Amino acid sequence: MAQRPYIVGNWKMNGSRAMLAEARAIDRAAARHPQVDIALAPPFPLIGLLREAVTGIGVGGQDCHTEAKGAHTGDVSAAMLADIGADFVILGHSERRRDHGESNALVRAKADAALAAGLGVIICVGETLEERDAGHAEDVVASQVDHSLPQGEAALEAVAGGKLAVAYEPVWAIGTGRVADVEDVIAMHAAVRARLHAAYDEAGARPRILYGGSVNAGNAAALLAAPEVGGALVGGASLTADAFLPIVAAAG
Ligand code: G3H
Repeated sequence: MAQRPYIVGNWKMNGSRAMLAEARAIDRAAARHPQVDIALAPPFPLIGLLREAVTGIGVGGQDCHTEAKGAHTGDVSAAMLADIGADFVILGHSERRRDHGESNALVRAKADAALAAGLGVIICVGETLEERDAGHAEDVVASQVDHSLPQGEAALEAVAGGKLAVAYEPVWAIGTGRVADVEDVIAMHAAVRARLHAAYDEAGARPRILYGGSVNAGNAAALLAAPEVGGALVGGASLTADAFLPIVAAAG
C-alpha cells in the first residue's frame, strides 16, 4: 500500500465498560505497529472513557448531528465529540442509511459540520446485493460518493490535510461472513478514487479508501494488498483484541 494503512474498528451498538479492557489491549499492541494508524469507534457512552483508556490509537464516534447545539433530543453534535476527545466520526454507514433514512445530502451536511469541528471524517458508501446483481454497483457507489462528500473551500483544505477517508462497504458483505472478491474491491475502489478526483482535483489522491464487510484475520492480508485499499473498517472482528490485532498485523 502506498498510503499509511488505516485500520478502524466500528463497535456499532456493542460494548460496555468491561470491554474497555479489549481497547487497552489493542492500544498496548499498537506500539508494535507504528506504521499503521489504528482507531476504534465505540458507542457514544463509551467515547470519553475510551479516550481516557488509550494513548496510541484514535477514538471516534459513529454519527453526529449537522448542528453544533440546540433542540435535537437524543442527538450529539460534532463539537461535543471533539470536546470529549474524539478524533474522527464515521458518517453515512449503511446501517444509519437503513435504520434512520439518512440521505446523501444529510451525510454531506454532517461531514461539513464534522470537519468544521476539527474532526476527521470517514464516509461510508456501498451497494446492496440487488444493485450489484442488476449491474449497478459502480453507478450507485459513484453517486453516493458524489453526493455525500463535503464541499467548499474549507472541505477542500481539510481533504488535502488528510481529514477525509471513504469506506467502501458492500451492504451484502456486512456482518454476513461473505467478503467481496478482491477483483471487485479493486474495481470499486478505483471508481471511488475517480470520483474523489472529480470532486477535489489533485487533492482527491489524499483520502484513504477503506474496505469494510466481513474483514477478518483470514482475509485481511489479501484485501489490504490490493491497489487503492488504504485500510479496513472492521465491525464484528473489532470487538476483541484477539480478533482485531491480526488484522492490524496484516496491515503492517
Ligand atoms: O463498519 C463496519 C462494517 O459495517 C463491517 O462490519 O466487519 O461486521 O462485516 P463487519
